Amino acid sequence: LNHKVIAIDGPSASGKGTVASRVAAALGFHYLDSGALYRLTALYAQKQHIEWNDETGVTKLAQSLPIVFEGQTVWLDGEDVSEAIRTEAIGMGASAVAQLPQVREALLQRQRDFLTKQGLVGDGRDMGSVIFPNAALKVFLTASAQVRAERRAKQLGSPCEGVAFERILADIEARDEADRRRPVAPLVQLPDAELLDTSEMGIDEAVKKVLDWYGKK
Ligand code: C5P
Repeated sequence: LNHKVIAIDGPSASGKGTVASRVAAALGFHYLDSGALYRLTALYAQKQHIEWNDETGVTKLAQSLPIVFEGQTVWLDGEDVSEAIRTEAIGMGASAVAQLPQVREALLQRQRDFLTKQGLVGDGRDMGSVIFPNAALKVFLTASAQVRAERRAKQLGSPCEGVAFERILADIEARDEADRRRPVAPLVQLPDAELLDTSEMGIDEAVKKVLDWYGKK
């Protein structure tokens, strides 16, 4: 086991990014937002007019993503894309390119390279199953689809009811379904992962829970 690695996996809008980055800050570890790499790949493909299901074309892009992470800012080919990668459309694109085995292969070493002596908290779908199977602590962080859709709606400044809300809920469920059903690196709750359901839990409590588990390792 690698004592300096924590793997946090879970469905979209579960709050795992917030929890993972807060845990990383508390421990002085690096935070790896692996979903950002898939989002960047999807956005880069869009900009280069490569279809998201073109495995050869997208893989070439993934192998040489011209990206720089600088604090909260992400640069793609010299352009600040921190906001552009956060749209639901690019989330869907990320989920599409993430189904291509060669794309995952291209991003695998890149993710492992984020681990230094400093330690790392990684969040995504396959942190514990594929990228860091020897992580000291694995967490499956989830929340009900309803709660996740409400969180996403609040983020977007849109109401938690009505047609727009139903759309957000449907999008979230569709993306999770695709992530769980795909043959390569599907989202699964591993037998050796701690389950953290944040449906009725605030961020502070969730962060504390992860730090407690880690302290007992
Ligand atoms: O976590 P986030 O919503 O940013 O991820 C976007 C998409 O990227 C996910 O829906 C998933 O398909 C893909 N992804 C993945 N493996 C990861 C992280 C994200 O397949 N480790």
